[in-house]
Amino acid sequence: MTRKILVTSALPYANGAIHLGHLVEYIQTDIWVRFQKSRGHQCHYVCADDTHGTPIMLRAEKEGITPEALIERVHNEHSRDFAGFHVEFDNYYSTNSPENKQLAYDIYSKLKANGKIARKTISQLFDPEKEMFLPDRFVKGECPKCGAKDQYGDNCEVCSATYSPTELKNPYSAVSGATPVLRDSEHYFFKLGECADFLKTWTTTPGKLQTEASNKMQEWFESGLTDWDISRDAPYFGFEIPDAPGKYFYVWLDAPVGYMASHKNLCDRLGLDFNEYWNKDSKTELYHFIGKDILYFHSLFWPAMLEYAGYRTPTAIFSHGFLTVDGAKMSKSRGTFITAESYLSHLNPEWLRYYYAAKLSNTAEDIDLNLEDFAARVNSDLIGKYVNIASRAAGFISKRFEGKLHNGVFAADDYAVMPAIVELQKKLQGASDSIAQHYEGREYGRAIREIMALTDDINQYVDTVKPWEMAKHPEQSANLHAVCSFLINAFRILTIYLKPVLPKLASDVEAFLNVAPVQWEDAQHLLLDHTINTYSHLMVRIDPKNIAAMIEENKQTLEPISNTPAAAPSFDIPAIAETCSIDDFMKVDLRIARIANAQHVEGAEKLLQLTLDLGNETRNVFAGIKSAYKPEDLIGKHTVMVANLAPRKMKFGMSEGMVLAAGGDGGLYILEPHAGAKPGMRVK
Ligand code: MSP
Ligand code: ZN
Repeated sequence: MTRKILVTSALPYANGAIHLGHLVEYIQTDIWVRFQKSRGHQCHYVCADDTHGTPIMLRAEKEGITPEALIERVHNEHSRDFAGFHVEFDNYYSTNSPENKQLAYDIYSKLKANGKIARKTISQLFDPEKEMFLPDRFVKGECPKCGAKDQYGDNCEVCSATYSPTELKNPYSAVSGATPVLRDSEHYFFKLGECADFLKTWTTTPGKLQTEASNKMQEWFESGLTDWDISRDAPYFGFEIPDAPGKYFYVWLDAPVGYMASHKNLCDRLGLDFNEYWNKDSKTELYHFIGKDILYFHSLFWPAMLEYAGYRTPTAIFSHGFLTVDGAKMSKSRGTFITAESYLSHLNPEWLRYYYAAKLSNTAEDIDLNLEDFAARVNSDLIGKYVNIASRAAGFISKRFEGKLHNGVFAADDYAVMPAIVELQKKLQGASDSIAQHYEGREYGRAIREIMALTDDINQYVDTVKPWEMAKHPEQSANLHAVCSFLINAFRILTIYLKPVLPKLASDVEAFLNVAPVQWEDAQHLLLDHTINTYSHLMVRIDPKNIAAMIEENKQTLEPISNTPAAAPSFDIPAIAETCSIDDFMKVDLRIARIANAQHVEGAEKLLQLTLDLGNETRNVFAGIKSAYKPEDLIGKHTVMVANLAPRKMKFGMSEGMVLAAGGDGGLYILEPHAGAKPGMRVK
């Protein structure tokens, strides 16, 4: 029976880069979706950027751009990173979309008609300078328990106490530094308390939640469900509440609705029936993959919103654990806070997909990326075991048999090797159901173990029959042909099993085997009497040096310098970037600047502090050029600077622009104009 399945991953915030922690989720989901598609089911994978809220609004302001411009840029970056890791959405949309606005209004008005919305006046900290209410994270002060300075408004990082921002001593606004005052405001609430009976039934319905999540739920029920504040006051980047001017939906109200909106947008594009998926009695399946940190939103608020607005509820919520690197939380100072972009500039995305798959189970246990184990495992499993099978057999097929696989017709006497082959082939094909079950149940680690046990069997078999020995005896040619054809078929079947994890490699294998894209069922028949292409390397080994270089690069970005290229071990000329329009280029305001002063920065390894004269003003710029220049040699020189780069707060002070420098191959060279160029001249 063909299933109709809709799958989502949590919507990443539009104010930060995708990192290896996020990728646990997107890779986990992508594998599941690819598996479902390969089984012939109709499966759609939708996601979007989560674009609303105070942090995004403030971030845009700091960069001197509109929130719309910020979220558009980040949307491009996120899309690029996901594509880089072969995470293939059917739709990657935005919560700042007309569909989302319409659906958020629709759900809100249905909840309201159902008596589930209440209004209450609450008192909250207000920044009198910035004229805005402050979210907990934007109030700082001294911890009321231990007195530690500069703690956030919700918890203390020193003593782990949790409290409300009004309890902080000497509070200040993280936005303006002003002392916040208490101010009243009317807020809108979703009456979650009234949904308790429904939620108790829903969260204990078998299959909806993992056991651990279900237990967590019980704790939450015991401590009581409080009504949920779904409104925020202006200024706020989000959707204005239709019947409440100046009030906006809290970002977490319209974020999950973003799943629906992305799906709606897809349905409209493909001519699919949106209602078939979302009506109360829908027979379709709906799964949300999320991290354990956002379980509360997905197992309480979201099902309750759907239920009381008259929609279907999710079939299941799958939560996963958090990523640690070498046993510890990702850390910027250790260089283990690794962005997707940085990983991709050093390493092959399928190595990480494989490693995550090998480590993932259906529980919310944290998963550790142990960098040494990562290299060892990928090299041993993928290159040593799996790819090895093809490289051991392919040469004989092309050199001895004109690239043609055996036709499968065997005259008994010639084929002493046959019984073993038949047995192995059965074993390989017979594993299909069990491996499929592991994928279906999100037990990828088990699936990988089973697949690798099969590759061990095949390699052992090769060691026993020794095709390279057979090749020395012309009378064994028929046997050699049968053995190598079997090995190629075994390799093909293993590829089918690994394809959800390694889609790019699988497509290279398809090209090598000269076949159409393989599906799960294809494991049940063999490639016979078929000409394959000559083998060329499918995957190289991980060189631990590249891992080290990646870690080093991420350590360097700690000092926020934007103009020092990472020291590359050798000088590779980077590829030319995507074309940009003249309009795009003209947005960058380049000016001639005179280096009026240059000095060392206390405590900075790579930075020099430059005072740049722009003719009618001076700028303070921190540049990562200490390795190449003595400050005194720079003073008086002219250079080129980006004059309209958003100012950036760094550990050592505000950096108000950037000087241009060429870098690579151990050298670093700032740009200098021909003599005569005057400070302040525009460069174009
Ligand atoms: N915007 C919300 C989700 C809204 S869904 C309606 C959000 N965004 S996030 O960018 O912070 O996280 C996106 C997903 O990545 C979440 O499921 C989160 O759990 C996951 N991860 C973020 N960091 C992670 C790790 N370090 N490890 C594993 N998953 C992590 O939450
Ligand atoms: Zn404290």
